[in-house]
Amino acid sequence: MEIIKITVLLLCSVASGVQGLAKAKQSHMHDNPSDFNNEASFPRFAEPIPNITVTIGRDALLACVVDNLKGYKVAWVRVDTQTILSIHHNVITQNPRISLTYNDHRSWYLHIREVEENDRGWYMCQVNTDPMRSRKGYLQVVVPPAIVESMTSNDMVVREGTNVTLNCKAKGFPEPYVMWRREDGDEMAIGGENVNVVDGEILHITKVSRLHMAAYLCVASNGVPPSISKRVQLRVQFPPMLSIPNQLEGAYVGQDVVLECHTEAYPASINYWTTERGDMIISDTSRTGDKFETMSRNTGYTKYMSLKIRSVGPADFGSYRCVAKNSLGETDGLIKLDEIPAPTTILTTESLYNNRSKGRKANKKHDPMMVGDYGVEEWKENGPAIRHPPGAFHNGAASATTSMRDIRIGSCCAGILFLLQQLLSILSQHRLAGDGRR
Ligand SMILES: *[C@@H]1O[C@H](CO)[C@@H](O)[C@H](O)[C@H]1NC(C)=O
Ligand SMILES: *[C@@H]1O[C@H](CO)[C@@H](O)[C@H](O)[C@H]1NC(C)=O
Ligand SMILES: *[C@@H]1O[C@H](CO)[C@@H](O)[C@H](O)[C@H]1NC(C)=O
Repeated sequence: MEIIKITVLLLCSVASGVQGLAKAKQSHMHDNPSDFNNEASFPRFAEPIPNITVTIGRDALLACVVDNLKGYKVAWVRVDTQTILSIHHNVITQNPRISLTYNDHRSWYLHIREVEENDRGWYMCQVNTDPMRSRKGYLQVVVPPAIVESMTSNDMVVREGTNVTLNCKAKGFPEPYVMWRREDGDEMAIGGENVNVVDGEILHITKVSRLHMAAYLCVASNGVPPSISKRVQLRVQFPPMLSIPNQLEGAYVGQDVVLECHTEAYPASINYWTTERGDMIISDTSRTGDKFETMSRNTGYTKYMSLKIRSVGPADFGSYRCVAKNSLGETDGLIKLDEIPAPTTILTTESLYNNRSKGRKANKKHDPMMVGDYGVEEWKENGPAIRHPPGAFHNGAASATTSMRDIRIGSCCAGILFLLQQLLSILSQHRLAGDGRR
């Protein structure tokens, strides 16, 4: 009975105190001279109530230190809601997360357990003098960033050439800063510029290309650890394309030769080789020394495929086709394998042409006579046409020259033409001799 009466009394006094504060602010204190003279006998706040910043879910502690409190009482009030939290030794609020501790009738601590966002705001410590005296402090509740899944993009599969927009929405307090970047750290071609990072919630890619195929991270941060990111995988679909480094290969009888083809496709294509007649070439790797050995190697959406033909025989000359197919289309490319004279028959040319027999590749860089390059790197898309390398090898007069493709005729110099004429005569003699031997 007694306690209830006291509580009610205090409640009234505190409630009037809260209102009193508002009045005092307006009227700038109706200072009573006698109160002023007795100042030393009134309670005083020993220190201001510091602002505190607490991460959501942690505990907060607000301290109010009053000297010379004597018979007066201290109350904690939530300013925004005008809620009385505690009076003297009693917790008034129903909020189970709030508790009170005190020391020496001087320090009054308000505890807020597992702080929530709605705990953010001003807290006032009041002493029931007349007029009421108070101090207040701000409880800042900060919230680490979080991705709003419902407003954020998920993994995407798009067709090449379309416009793509990735969205990312993050919440937190303070408002998080959001940016997009590639997971692999590579630059992104966005709006005609190469950038590492795109600020903001939206990543807009106009005319997406296969080069945009990557994992993207939306990173949200607001200074409250931990920062957070969401990974969005962007897959860009396109039909197969292929390029052939050498559309014309030369080999002599008995030589091993490797035909090569590069393809790009997403989804990954099925690749294989066929003969001129269109038969699929299946290499039997269990049998060592099988005639054919096919190999393919994937790197992202690119694939390298090779066909090794062991100990080329007369029946092996002709055309080979590499084929790539996926759900969006199919393409193929032709490689022609021509016979060239065996190295022993071209000793003369060897000394003349700087160890030519070591192989085309080595010569590519050094050969001063080399004009056009056989290895026309041209991408071919679905179309029917095979791009032929420059030079005379595909025209009517090709038969004589194709067998000599290694020599890379094509220069304009008269002196060289003279040498070539000589060479041709030497070669034709050898060919005759060679044919005789067979
Ligand atoms: C306490 O925080 C409030 C609100 O953020 C601010 O207006 C005030 O200046 C702060 N006071 C101190 C002493 O930092
Ligand atoms: C893609 O975006 C560009 C530039 O914003 C626009 O000109 C074009 O019409 C868009 N294409 C499609 C298919 O929406
Ligand atoms: C050709 O190659 C052989 C062995 O590979 C070497 O001994 C010779 O010096 C080379 N000749 C020229 C002209 O490079």
